[in-house]
Amino acid sequence: MGAQMVLGPYTPGAAIDAALKMKRSDVVVTVRESGLRGRGGAGFPTGTKWMLAAAATGDEKYVVCNADEGEPGTFKDRVLLSDHADLVFDGMAVCAYAIGARKGFVYLRGEYRYLLADLEATLERMREENRLGKSIAGKDGFDFDIEIRLGSGAYVCGEESALIESLEGRRGEPRIRPPFPVSAGYLGRPTAVNNVETFALASRIMEKGAEWFSEIGTDESAGYKLFSVSGDCENPGVYELPMGTSINELLTTVGAEDAVAVQVGGASGEMVTRDAFNRRLAFEDVATGGSVIVFGPERNLLDVLENFMDFFTDESCGQCTPCRLGIRRLLNGVRDLKKGALSADDLKMLRGLSKSVAISSKCGLGQSCDTPFASILDAHLKGVAQ
Ligand SMILES: Cc1cc2nc3c(=O)[nH]c(=O)nc-3n(C[C@H](O)[C@H](O)[C@H](O)COP(=O)(O)O)c2cc1C
Ligand code: SF4
Repeated sequence: MGAQMVLGPYTPGAAIDAALKMKRSDVVVTVRESGLRGRGGAGFPTGTKWMLAAAATGDEKYVVCNADEGEPGTFKDRVLLSDHADLVFDGMAVCAYAIGARKGFVYLRGEYRYLLADLEATLERMREENRLGKSIAGKDGFDFDIEIRLGSGAYVCGEESALIESLEGRRGEPRIRPPFPVSAGYLGRPTAVNNVETFALASRIMEKGAEWFSEIGTDESAGYKLFSVSGDCENPGVYELPMGTSINELLTTVGAEDAVAVQVGGASGEMVTRDAFNRRLAFEDVATGGSVIVFGPERNLLDVLENFMDFFTDESCGQCTPCRLGIRRLLNGVRDLKKGALSADDLKMLRGLSKSVAISSKCGLGQSCDTPFASILDAHLKGVAQ
């Protein structure tokens, strides 16, 4: 759908061949010049991440593809892995070449176990075609292979340091950062962790060049982006649109003219109401890893908020008290509000608590809870829906 630049046809191996025509350092420069920012949500510049991993010292380095895709409403990585696995795996090989890694992992969401046999078959074919293994594509000294590991269904294991803990065989609990994975990741070695879509885009950038990518989108958010659109719209699905597309444009594309609110960025994202549908889907405006959930006028937004707080309460790893207990308190507050048993002072206290949880939590799960809490509450109080 949409522009079909990332999801369009691809000749397996093209990205690796293009990268091997360059010096390792020039691959990093190309990715930096493209303006590519990570598609897992935080939007960290990919070229900078690869540059740091390349410069870090370590007897081994690792490439990790974050295929945990746990954010509610996100399913674009599943589409990439189902239909464009060559593009993703080639992107990992390009990263390995750029940073000097010999081993890569795909951390695959447990619920995507059904993709495993096909993904393994693609890896096997890549080995036969010498796109994985020793002296890849005839390049002396470029040895790299990929192993797939299955997650077990914990949302927090999508956070990169918890993911690495899980890869190492421990409970998936976030680490204190710094050090960041680029200097001390898997087994304490430099590790580049990127989202599935980020690797797919890196392949396209090798194939088509930095300028092709940087010319699309906005100054701070280059290129195309995949959006997983669900909820109250005629045509839910995965859409490929330039960064900077307005929410209005997206809603027209998916057939959702009746929408009163849109949750952008999943449970940890922001609820945007109709009066602000001219805002743009970009890191400098409404940032998103790609989840867009559309709400029509019949929806009760407090049900949505309760659902998200319930989700976070379940998924908190429990390491920090503000997240473990604070979000549960927010959930109970929303339930009281639904029953009409919450005073204006209680509501003010909950808003303050939500901000405290965000500033005192160790990882993005607790840190981001105020965004949905405050924005959905505001949307409800504006009376945009039921
Ligand atoms: C609670 C939590 C869950 C996350 N889940 C995912 C995920 O499922 N997939 C993903 O790519 N990034 C996820 N992230 C972001 C990762 O920590 C990390 O920023 C990302 O994998 C880096 O890749 P990128 O730079 O290509 O975006 C999550 C972060 C948090 C805090
Ligand atoms: S913020 Fe929540 S999920 Fe993150 S480390 Fe603390 S308790 Fe665990």
